[in-house]
Amino acid sequence: MKIIQTKNYQSMSKLASQYVINTLKQIDKPVLGLATGSTPEGLYQHLIKAYQTHQISFANVSTFNLDEYVGLDKEDKNSYHYYMHKFLFNHVDVPSRNIHLPNGIANDLNVECTSYENRIQSVGGIHIQILGIGKNGHIGFNEPGTSFESRTHVVDLDESTRRANARFFDSFDEVPNQAITMGIQSIMQAKEILLLVSGSEKAEALEKLVNGKVNEDFPASILQTHQNVKIIADKAALENISYRYVSETM
Ligand code: F6R
Repeated sequence: MKIIQTKNYQSMSKLASQYVINTLKQIDKPVLGLATGSTPEGLYQHLIKAYQTHQISFANVSTFNLDEYVGLDKEDKNSYHYYMHKFLFNHVDVPSRNIHLPNGIANDLNVECTSYENRIQSVGGIHIQILGIGKNGHIGFNEPGTSFESRTHVVDLDESTRRANARFFDSFDEVPNQAITMGIQSIMQAKEILLLVSGSEKAEALEKLVNGKVNEDFPASILQTHQNVKIIADKAALENISYRYVSETM
């Protein structure tokens, strides 16, 4: 696990975009795992800029998102489908047939989970998975207690996660109770993981991820056992981590 420190959110986003662009350029048909939430918005802005200035094309890229709320259709402004189109897909040349998100309104959610997992396998797995982290240690929507063996599945969202995400909704009551998420195993099968962390409110979680026991009660701790994890975090998020473990460059 390599930890790279940046000055702030902007420099974290820029460094992440440079790294993603370089990685995509080296692969013939790259498969990119994507996250939503506040953390990757800056990364997506930089990717759009890079596309607009002809530094990168997404024509050969396939994408798989980590998760989607259950019960929200694609047009719902709070669905992750809507988020991804708003913050990235509408502005770059990724073909729509290459875009994959779990369908949160599928008739049979369990069938949808299996089919999503199969779709990831059918393109040969994810080359680089972008992750954020929840204050409770969740990755994707894998809440504390999720089995490290889990594959794409339906989850009941923690009240703390629903409260954290209520800022995107008109009221707390509108935040769905369930989501479909890639499982811990699905995430761990990515060849490379790029975790972005920003702000002092994530410092405790980041410290636990790096120094804590690998334990299902803190899902992100599993990343300690992945062969190829890079964490790009800003100074505020790294306030609890000794500088000895931190590098300034990729
Ligand atoms: C989003 C996701 C979540 C978020 C996490 C942090 O697709 O899977 O695990 O990465 O909740 O969210 P933000 O970035 O909003 O703090």
